[in-house]
Amino acid sequence: MIVMGNKKILITRIFPEIGIELLKNAGFSVTTWDGDRPMTQDELIEKSKVHDALFCASSEKIDKRFFTECSHLDIISQFSVGYDNIDIAEATRLGIPIGNAPNAMSEATADIAFGLMIATSRKMFYSHKKIINGDWDYFRPNADLGMELKNKTLGIYGLGRIGMKMAERCKGAYNMNILYHNRSRNLRAEQELQATYVDFNSLLAQSDVISVHCSLSAETKGIFNKAAFGQMKPSSLFINTSRGSVHNEPDLIEALNNGIIWGAGLDVTDPEPMQANNQLLQMENVAVLPHIGSATVEARSEMARLAVTNIIGFYKNKNIPHLVNPEAMTPK
Ligand code: 8YV
Repeated sequence: MIVMGNKKILITRIFPEIGIELLKNAGFSVTTWDGDRPMTQDELIEKSKVHDALFCASSEKIDKRFFTECSHLDIISQFSVGYDNIDIAEATRLGIPIGNAPNAMSEATADIAFGLMIATSRKMFYSHKKIINGDWDYFRPNADLGMELKNKTLGIYGLGRIGMKMAERCKGAYNMNILYHNRSRNLRAEQELQATYVDFNSLLAQSDVISVHCSLSAETKGIFNKAAFGQMKPSSLFINTSRGSVHNEPDLIEALNNGIIWGAGLDVTDPEPMQANNQLLQMENVAVLPHIGSATVEARSEMARLAVTNIIGFYKNKNIPHLVNPEAMTPK
C-alpha cells in the first residue's frame, strides 16, 4: 500500500487553496513555489528531482530536456485544459501519466470569447482609451461606428466544450447561424444549435465572426496565417481564446492594417506576455486581454480540484480521472 506521506508533490504556483488542502488531507507532503516570479526551467528541474509528482501550470516548460533530468516522476498533473507545454510523446515513452483539468473553464472562457466579440465589434477598448487620453470631445454621428451581430454567421474553429459554450451564447443572444470546422463532427451541436460542419476554406469564406477554440498542435500552429486571413470577409472579426500561436501575429497585423479583415479580439498572444508597445494595442478594431479566459473564482477552484484529483487517484488506485496519455499507464 502507498503511504501518501512518503510522496512529495511539487506545486509550481500558488494555486487555489482547495487543491493544496485536498493534497494535504490525503496525507501528501507538499512543497509550493511561492516566489514572486515563476521558477526558471533549471529551478523547476532541480526541485522536481527531489519530488515524486508535479502539480504545475501550462506556462511551465516540460520538454525533452526536463524529462531527461526528471524521468523518475510518477505523475504530472496540470492546472489547465491545454497541455501543449508538455512533450507528451516523451512522457508516454517514459511511462509518466499526464493529467489535466478540462470542463472547469468552459463557461468562463466562452464568456471571454463572447465578450471579446462584442468589445471588438463595438470598438470598446479603443473607445475606453479615448476617454483616458482626453479625446472625448463632441458628438460626431459618423464616428466610431461598430457593427451589429444579430443574425450574423459564427464560424467556430474547434467545436469542443468551450466552442460549444460560445456557440450557445451566440445562438441565444443573436440568433447567429453556426458553422464549424473540427477534427470530428459534433452531432450535439448540429442537433441543438443547427450547426453546420464545413471545410476550413468554407469556414473562412462564409463566417462573419471566426472564433478559435482548438488546442495547439502541429496541425493548428499558425493555421490562421496570411492565406487564411485572405479568404475571410473584409467585414469579419477574428476571435482567439485558445493559444496565441494558432494565429500568425505579423500576418494578423497586416490583415487588419490592410482591411483584409475588420477586427480582432484576442485573449491569447505569442509570446505571452505581449509587449506593451505591440501595434495591436493601438488599433481601433482590436481588443486584447492578458490570457484571462479561466480567471473566475469558480473555474480556477474547480481546475485546482480536478488537477489534484488526478494525483490522488493515481496514488490511491492508479485511477486518473482526466488522463491525457492512457498509453503511459500500460505496463512496460
Ligand atoms: C490557464 C488555459 O489560465 O486551461 C488552459 O489551457 O489556457 C488557462 O485556463 C492557464 O493555462 C493556466 O495553466
